[in-house]
Amino acid sequence: MTTTESIERTQEFAGKRALVTGGTRGIGASVVRHLLDAGAEVLTTARSETSTLPQGATFVKADVGTHSGVEALASAAQEKLGGIDIVVHNAGGARPYEGVTAIPDEEWQGALDLNYLAAVRLDALLAPGMRERRSGAIIHVSSAAVLTPLAPYLHYTAAKAALENYSKGLALELAPFGIRVNTVSPGRTATPGGEETRKEWAEMSARTGGGSALTQADDSTPLGRDGLPEDIAQAVLFLVSDRASWLTASNLVVDGGEFPRG
Ligand SMILES: NC(=O)c1ccc[n+]([C@@H]2O[C@H](COP(=O)([O-])OP(=O)(O)OC[C@H]3O[C@@H](n4cnc5c(N)ncnc54)[C@H](OP(=O)(O)O)[C@@H]3O)[C@@H](O)[C@H]2O)c1
Repeated sequence: MTTTESIERTQEFAGKRALVTGGTRGIGASVVRHLLDAGAEVLTTARSETSTLPQGATFVKADVGTHSGVEALASAAQEKLGGIDIVVHNAGGARPYEGVTAIPDEEWQGALDLNYLAAVRLDALLAPGMRERRSGAIIHVSSAAVLTPLAPYLHYTAAKAALENYSKGLALELAPFGIRVNTVSPGRTATPGGEETRKEWAEMSARTGGGSALTQADDSTPLGRDGLPEDIAQAVLFLVSDRASWLTASNLVVDGGEFPRG
């Protein structure tokens, strides 16, 4: 790459206003950092502000698993940035349970609110502005685990499966307005949330003595390592950039080859 090309690449998102949910750690923090480095203005949110919030990002404390949190976030986006060009719905996750029937009703609702409905609600508030400007890029962060629904996490993978289906429908609706909508599905990625939930799963497996539905999956990938937040962020950055201008309604699985599919 020539020097001119690399300078152009670092300015790739100059003038763009981005909103990334869950940007204080893990995958979200890496996406925020890369967007800032490439010249974007970035607003991010979490339930608590931490020292791992990337420097230069504007922070709004909000719980996107609630109606009021989503509304507060959309208002802040308008007040602080005057609108949004790029949205990355990244906040998500769930804790494991000892089988599908052990998942309490409120956890099903919580998983749907955070991993699916948060995106539906926020998109409904931000899409009108994008439609008016006839441009925009939306990313929904799902999970490669949708491909192997596992009993301890079924509330989570079912919500992410709904998110993927919704994402494709939204892409078709918004395509005539020049707005692109894509999904990124990470495999096992080394983040604080990912490590914590896998530890809880391992402890649960040991406690219950295993059994096919509850035993933790093999932790290897064909590429021989877990993903890094950076690996997922690079896929997100590509999909929201003009380099992906003919890509919409797609789902990019970034999993080191763990779940090959056609
Ligand atoms: N890591 C993996 O192995 C993996 C694999 C597949 C898919 N994913 C997906 O990738 C995304 C990011 O995962 P991660 O591993 O980077 O997670 P993480 O390390 O747990 O970070 C999650 C971020 O989201 C915020 N957050 C969580 N709940 C929130 C809420 N209700 N409202 C607002 N912010 C909230 C957290 O801050 P607060 O806690 O302060 O709110 C934090 O900033 C998630 O959608 C996850 O499902 C991850």
